[in-house]
Amino acid sequence: MRTQVGIVGAGPAGLMLSHLLHLAGIESIIIEDRSREYCENRVRAGLMENWVARMLIDTGVGERLQREAMVHDGIFIVFNGEAHKLDFRELVNKHVYIYDQKEVVTDLIAKRLADGGQILFEVEDSSVHDFDGKHPKIRFKHGGRAQEIECDFIAGCDGFHGVCRPSLPRRSWRGYDRIYPFAWLGILSDSPPPEKELIYAYHQDGFALYSMRGPHLSRLYLQVTPDEDIASWPNDRIWEELTTRLAGVRTLEQGKILQKGVTPMRSYVTEPMQYGRMFLAGDAAHIVPPTGAKGMNLAMADVRVLARAFEHFYRKGEGDGLDAYSATALRRVWKGQRFSYWMTSMLHRYGGDYAEFDMKRQLAELDYVTSSRAAAVSLAENYAGLPID
Ligand code: DHB
Repeated sequence: MRTQVGIVGAGPAGLMLSHLLHLAGIESIIIEDRSREYCENRVRAGLMENWVARMLIDTGVGERLQREAMVHDGIFIVFNGEAHKLDFRELVNKHVYIYDQKEVVTDLIAKRLADGGQILFEVEDSSVHDFDGKHPKIRFKHGGRAQEIECDFIAGCDGFHGVCRPSLPRRSWRGYDRIYPFAWLGILSDSPPPEKELIYAYHQDGFALYSMRGPHLSRLYLQVTPDEDIASWPNDRIWEELTTRLAGVRTLEQGKILQKGVTPMRSYVTEPMQYGRMFLAGDAAHIVPPTGAKGMNLAMADVRVLARAFEHFYRKGEGDGLDAYSATALRRVWKGQRFSYWMTSMLHRYGGDYAEFDMKRQLAELDYVTSSRAAAVSLAENYAGLPID
């Protein structure tokens, strides 16, 4: 097989890249080790910055999003048993959308296939080769047969545990890492969310987040310890903790728990996000802790920059956009890291020697962002999405 851009990974980054390249007349093939069904059903964070929704709509994949996504004008921040609203429309004249990442993936897969795109699902043993020269190759097995794609470039969109980043020569890049002393236990519940807007709750027992996927479908998260054994969280205990952490603010209606899982919390950035003719995008290059839901938004920003750079290369034969890809993408990535780290460290209970100091500092921070317009604007601007150009 031969194509212009070989893409590893059919998540939001790989699919959106392939879609944008197609619109620019550039060929790509995507390989993915999971099944189509798995990709379309994996519940992930659901918060979409304004410009991402705009990009999906403007490029012809926003039809269902426009019908089904929930528009959010702000968030509630809860601490000391009181709820404070941050009104994004009023503060920065922006809104965000709730539309689960799996819906974005579903829409993009359908669009790529309808446009004649090639996505090979359930490949095995994929590996990337020769990207330090002019003829990179992707090798894998598909349907039991060994296959090879020869391409001009490789886009590594294969997530944090993918094969692309570890294939970079060891001395060509560096990873910046931070691990947090907690994780999130997330559930999907057949019950109405307690509010129209999302609720970020700071509580002595730990952070809680009240989000949603529909008028009768709640997505709820609890701060737990890292490597938490899910068996120690029977449904009754989950509801008890959620109710406690929201006590005095809203009543929480309970429902059947449809899904539950633990999300680790980590910040990670690879620099540079490129080597030779291989470019990393999305979680393959960086991950953020989930507070503020920047993961998919950063992935979308990466591939927007990368697609434009490829377009410039194929139209004009000039590689300066590709050479600048990493530096351009990293400027936004680090701002996303800063914001996710800041939201995380403002809202989670820390243990250890400084637990009491941290609590006092956090309460002051929460008081500040909910009483100073300048601080509220800063949160809102980052949350709803920094300007894209
Ligand atoms: C969701 C996840 C987040 O991490 C967040 O900050 C907001 C919403 C969600 O899955 O709905």
